[in-house]
Order: sequence, then C-alpha cells, then structure tokens
Amino acid sequence: MSGIEKTTFGVYVHWPFCLSKCPYCDFNSHVRHAAIDEDRFAHAFAREIEFTAARVPGRTVTSIFLGGGTPSLMQPQTVGAILDAIGKHWRVADDAEVTLEANPTSVEATRFAGYRTAGVNRVSLGVQALDDASLQELGRLHSAREALDAVAVARRAFDRYSFDLIYARPDQTPNMWAGELGLAIREAAEHLSLYQLTIEEGTPFFGLHAAGKLKTPDESVARALYDVTQEVCERHGLPAYEISNHARKGAECRHNLVYWRGEEYAGIGPGAHGRLDINNVRHATATEKRPEAWLMRVEANGHGIITDDDLSREERADEFLLMGLRLSEGIDPLRYAALAGRPLDPRRIALLRDEGAIVVDTDGRLRVTRIGFPVLDAVVADLAA
Ligand SMILES: C[S@@+](CC[C@H](N)C(=O)[O-])C[C@H]1O[C@@H](n2cnc3c(N)ncnc32)[C@H](O)[C@@H]1O
Ligand code: SF4
Repeated sequence: MSGIEKTTFGVYVHWPFCLSKCPYCDFNSHVRHAAIDEDRFAHAFAREIEFTAARVPGRTVTSIFLGGGTPSLMQPQTVGAILDAIGKHWRVADDAEVTLEANPTSVEATRFAGYRTAGVNRVSLGVQALDDASLQELGRLHSAREALDAVAVARRAFDRYSFDLIYARPDQTPNMWAGELGLAIREAAEHLSLYQLTIEEGTPFFGLHAAGKLKTPDESVARALYDVTQEVCERHGLPAYEISNHARKGAECRHNLVYWRGEEYAGIGPGAHGRLDINNVRHATATEKRPEAWLMRVEANGHGIITDDDLSREERADEFLLMGLRLSEGIDPLRYAALAGRPLDPRRIALLRDEGAIVVDTDGRLRVTRIGFPVLDAVVADLAA
C-alpha cells in the first residue's frame, strides 16, 4: 500500500472483440469468426482481478470502465460476472460510475436493460457520424437512424449516457459539421466525445491516405472545424473539459478524469494498461494484447502482465504534464514540482504565455488556452524540455 489514503481508484476492463474492423481504428480489437467462449474469458478476467487486487489491496473503486473493442457484444451475465469479481476483491463505492462502451446497433441495444441489471449505470455509444454516407465511408455497421434509436434506448435505460462522433472527415465543411453537432447536442443529455479523425499507421485509412485516395481536411479547415466544435458546444452548455470531451458541469466522465489527473487505476484484460502505486512507487503495467495468448497466460499464471515498469520521477512528472494539460482545468505546477523534484522552467512558461498558448490562473493553476489546444503536443514538449 502507498500509505496515502486514496480518494479515487479506477478499474479498466478491455473486451477485445468486434464484429468487423473499422478502417480507421488501431485499438486492440480483433474479429473472430468462431463464437467467443465468454465463460472462459469471464473466469480469466476474475483471476486477473484477484491477482491485481492482491497487489493493490484495500482500494475503494470509484469508477469502472468496460472498453474495447466492443463490450456490447458481451452477454449481460458476462458483464455481471466481471463486476461481481471486482466487488469481491475490492470495495466498490456506493456511487461508483460504471460505464460500458457500446456500438449503436439494434441488436446491442436489446442488451442495455440487462447491463443495467448487471450494475452498469452509464453507456458510451460509438455513433461516429449522423449521416449514412459518412457512416458507410467509416466502415460502420449501423445507419444514422439505428444509432439514434440506440441512443433513445440508452436514454431510457440509464441516467447517464454519452456518445462519440468523429469529425474532420473527408469533405466535411465547418457548416456541415455545425449542423451535425447541433443535432447531436439535441440528442445528447450531458456528455459528448468529439474526436478529430486521426490517420493511424497500419490501418486501411493510412494506406488510402498515403495513396491520395482519402483526403482529410487541410490544417486551416481542421482548425475551423475545431473552432466550430468549441463554439457550438459552449453555446449549448457543453464546454470542453478535455481536449475531445464535452460535458455539462458535474457530468464529466469520472473514469477518464482518473487518467487525466494522474490517479491510480488497474488495467484488466488483453492489452490493458494500468498505473498502480505499490510501496510509493508507481508501476506502469500492460498486459498481452492477443486475446487467446492473454487467456493462456492468465490460465497459467493468474495474470497476463507482460510489462511492469517502475516509473522514475521524471517519467511520472512528464506523464502528469502530458495528461493533465489535456484538461481545461489544467495542472497544479506545485504537484509537478513535487513529482519531478524541480519546478517547471519559469522562462518557458513566460514564453508560452506571451504566445497565448497557456495561462496561469490566479490560483496558480496552469492551463492551455484555445490557441494552445490545437498544438498541445508542442506545448507539452516545450514545457517538459
Ligand atoms: C475504441 S473505440 C470503441 C467504441 C466502439 N467499439 C465503437 O466503435 O463504437 C472508442 C472511440 O474512439 C474513436 N476513434 C477510434 N479510432 C479513431 C480515429 N482513428 N480517429 C478518431 N477517433 C477514433 C471512436 O469515436 C470510437 O467510438
Ligand atoms: S472503432 Fe470500435 S467497432 Fe470499430 S474496430 Fe475500433 S473498437 Fe471495433
């Protein structure tokens, strides 16, 4: 145990299967043509949870996130078994946030009530676009109508739900996006994740893009799309609390805040990452990515961990900066100094402030501005240097 009383502790559980692979996606997701043995996976999840809880006992779980892949392909009893295992090995706070990532097809929506009974209290739906041509281009298996119907089922089944859209798609103009966003906001209750399309190496989109067959908006259009996102969302009471995440006040995804605020979380399942504090040392853990190889490791050893690195002061401080500056609340420079053993360089702060990329609030917090967010990586690199 770290000796410090923890106020938050997240548990991430990765379900690595999808019905088909979207051409833009480089997440750890796999398509299998044979049926998945969910019971066998559920037992393996339970074993890895037990193993992890023995390393970091006594925590109170404040958030659980079932991500993927496509967790909404799991039967509700599999989700129930995973949540029961978490509850058996840690205490789960009465008001814990329990999110499940779902694809918005009609088949998956029929499982929502079962997930709620199993203990899920929030869903995050991958809607991606609200027009059928874009959905087809993104390789999605649902129409816009089907996605909105799934959103309506989520609204009835859960007090809290969110959905994802991808923007800066080929040929998308700021006007088109403003219209789509307006419709999304009418359908969203409290939370939206709005991701700018990234062309990830190794995906089919990467090859098409390199060959000039997939044209994404140039820098100035991408910037205009980003500005539209901020303006429309702010106007409707959904300001960004993180570079790609928008919420009404108090409706932020508590689980994702655990990552961005540099707090502690366990990573369970194939390819999951964790950050565990053991004897005052932060461990960065990662498990085997290939689902069947992970399964065999867990069955043999009780866990699928293949990386378990102690983070140095520098590494921890850099990670704190990288994650924390994504948030509109920014970071506390004193916490950075405590982690790094040295303060941020005041000259670099002054330079970035003069450029308008960051501000330092009256309470001392350092925040990235709307000018700085589109070049966040450069801002972080500058500060960390
Ligand atoms: C790992 S996916 C899981 C969600 C679920 N499987 C789905 O597709 O609906 C999480 C989200 O990441 C976003 N995403 C994945 N690849 C992306 C990319 N290349 N560019 C932008 N957003 C991406 C999508 O919005 C997606 O909903
Ligand atoms: S975007 Fe979602 S459904 Fe598509 S491959 Fe990635 S994880 Fe699977």
